Amino acid sequence: MRHNQHLGTIETMPKDSFEVLSDHKSPPTYNFFDGEKWVPSHSGKTIDIVSPVDDDVIGTVQSVTQSEIDSSIYRAKQAQKKWSSLPITKRGQILHLAADWIRHHEQMLTAQLITEIGKSVSEAKDEILRSADMIDYFANAGLSLRGEELEGDAFPGYDQSKMAIVERCPIGVVLAISPFNYPVNLSVSKLAPALIMGNSVVFKPPTQGSISCLYLTEIFRVAGVPDGTLVTLTGTGNDIGNYLVTHKDINMITYTGSSQVGKSIATKAGMIPLLFECGGNNPALVLPDADMVFTAGEIVKGAFSYSGQRCTAIKYVLGFPPTIDQLIPLVVEKTKSSIKMGDPRIETNNMGPVISEHAADEIEKRILVAKAEGATIVFGGKRDGRYIEPTILDNVNPHMEVMRIETFGPVVSFLRVQAIDEAVKIINDSDYGLQACIFTKDEGAGIVLGKQLDVGTIQLNNKPQRGPDHFPFLGVKGSGVGVQGISYTLEAMSRPKSIVLNKPQ
Ligand code: G3H
Repeated sequence: MRHNQHLGTIETMPKDSFEVLSDHKSPPTYNFFDGEKWVPSHSGKTIDIVSPVDDDVIGTVQSVTQSEIDSSIYRAKQAQKKWSSLPITKRGQILHLAADWIRHHEQMLTAQLITEIGKSVSEAKDEILRSADMIDYFANAGLSLRGEELEGDAFPGYDQSKMAIVERCPIGVVLAISPFNYPVNLSVSKLAPALIMGNSVVFKPPTQGSISCLYLTEIFRVAGVPDGTLVTLTGTGNDIGNYLVTHKDINMITYTGSSQVGKSIATKAGMIPLLFECGGNNPALVLPDADMVFTAGEIVKGAFSYSGQRCTAIKYVLGFPPTIDQLIPLVVEKTKSSIKMGDPRIETNNMGPVISEHAADEIEKRILVAKAEGATIVFGGKRDGRYIEPTILDNVNPHMEVMRIETFGPVVSFLRVQAIDEAVKIINDSDYGLQACIFTKDEGAGIVLGKQLDVGTIQLNNKPQRGPDHFPFLGVKGSGVGVQGISYTLEAMSRPKSIVLNKPQ
């Protein structure tokens, strides 16, 4: 028995809860969750999950069939009404319990993330704890999201005979597709708000990251999410993606991943609400008065944490020639002194491999093309298997491939501009628009400049980042659709429904 700030005295999650997940062989074959039971797929097809850390197969997951998708979504649809009629306080308690058990299993989940996606110890631990905090925050905030009452006579031509009672309703069955770089946290950012608002969830985890997501599913199930309310379907995007996103019983899609896949889903999904966070390709604009040592530190963190595999990573740095000349040696120095690449299971290493051999091939190719196009490799640029050195490129121009397409790896480019307007044009001409950061001691100038940039968020004197998680988080252009962030996501995952009272005159 333990004490939880939201629930009082609570039970620890039963020890044998995770037994049902797999066959316990070496490596284990994992089941999928059809909303009621953990079962193998009738497809007989499984997918090997290979650790990016050491190439070991750490498990295999099911590739579900279309008929298993149909029956699971049917269950989700049937279960949704009952779930939404449960008092929101009860739904909140279930979520708080899940958050508590995530904290309780922090060590196991952290270890799983390190092996499965190659995050460093501290990054993996942060992801788990942030996820528990996020669930608690969603559960609490859900209680205060409310509708409103409107009077008709506030619009010209109407009198007091009309009033609208506007309540917030669940949307129905939400399809949640999460990415490999935050398999737990970016799943939780979809599951928790969908559930607290009374939706049921069809959860499609990232293939690399699936196993962590199966543990997460079981935590929600044992915490009390009823049968059918959450189903977890594994399979590659190529095998099951199209079928899921075009399924007639999916009422909303929430997705995090590449812009390319996001655009393809948006084209196919039809007239349902979409909440997407896609690629970033985020710039840092450094003004001459910036604190250069501090700025260099933020650039290194922004470009190289989790090997640059964050949609909020810094991908290029813009400044006048003297600023860039001053900055590059400081960034190289900081990279040397603060980035320790190696096996992420060793706590002193803070940068691990990229997610797969294929991803490493793509990143290496991007560096080589940049070099062929005239960029200079100032630091790094080499590769050993899936380990790519933190790489700093100079003399990059906006037409190079490395500038036009997001490189999901540890590569940062430096560009010299002759005027601020030129920097603004480069940023605004991009196909992406997630975040931009501006470094200057003059916050007023930073605000004026920030207003000119077509991105979702401007960070003054900080690297781009999603958190704190109650701030609005959104991308424009190819970087996303809709707004996330606690109350924004809750609104997105519910809809207003009006009952208009027509009072007798
Ligand atoms: O990769 C996309 C994530 O939303 C980035 O989150 O800024 O907390 O690393 P982060």
